[in-house]
Amino acid sequence: MNIGNYKAYISAETMMGPNSVRILAELFDKFPLQLLSDDIILDLGCGTGLTSLIIAKETRAKVFANDLWVSAEENRKRFVEWGVGEQITPICEDANNLRFEKEQFRALISIDSYHYFAGSKGFFQEKILPFMKDNGVVLIGVPGLKDEYTGCSEELLSDWLGKDAYMFKSPKLWKELIGGNDRIELVRTWEMDCFSKAWNDWLATNNKFALRDRQYFETIIKPYTCFVGICIKLKRAL
Ligand SMILES: C[S@@+](CC[C@H](N)C(=O)[O-])C[C@H]1O[C@@H](n2cnc3c(N)ncnc32)[C@H](O)[C@@H]1O
Repeated sequence: MNIGNYKAYISAETMMGPNSVRILAELFDKFPLQLLSDDIILDLGCGTGLTSLIIAKETRAKVFANDLWVSAEENRKRFVEWGVGEQITPICEDANNLRFEKEQFRALISIDSYHYFAGSKGFFQEKILPFMKDNGVVLIGVPGLKDEYTGCSEELLSDWLGKDAYMFKSPKLWKELIGGNDRIELVRTWEMDCFSKAWNDWLATNNKFALRDRQYFETIIKPYTCFVGICIKLKRAL
């Protein structure tokens, strides 16, 4: 995926953290999606919809853009302005209580948001899997802890993240938490390559959260954290 194609859309207004476009690009490059024209993709925790736009452009599939903090109306306005109002459906629902049709999505993508709601064992099987089609693919990128610090997030990250430190989990721990199921073919987790570039893009903005992150980058964020990539492939129908 060529990130340069999307430069005009990446701004302090659309970014909500380290550059989500770089995280998405790494996931797409490692696990290219092979979709049919009537496939539907769920962008879960889409924020301002920047990733939804790119998913729509790159795959040409239909996209459901779901977020909790950003309203569907706000995202709808942006999608219409960006010329993808027909292709992307904005939705505002809690990922803990999604109300989609069962076995609807060929792919689910979630960038920098899955850690807010999905860090407990069984979440994937109970809350996500029922909505996925057989042979579906799930691609997730979340901030997390390097494998060597597994289990130490509160001790290492609390000065920066306060009570949210527990949300940061290592690739090893995410693999355990996702777990298995007779519909799951494989779960892969890894430390992503895009860490420095995604952070640099974010820290260069004047967003007030980026200004705060800057104070902790060298002492906490860089030494202990990473981006965790997660790919889950589902089995074909029997
Ligand atoms: C850091 S922002 C990232 C947004 C976007 N994916 C990006 O990378 O720019 C985290 C997003 O997670 C979403 N989120 C947090 N908890 C959620 C929940 N329970 N259900 C749905 N979305 C949730 C928030 O609404 C927020 O937009």
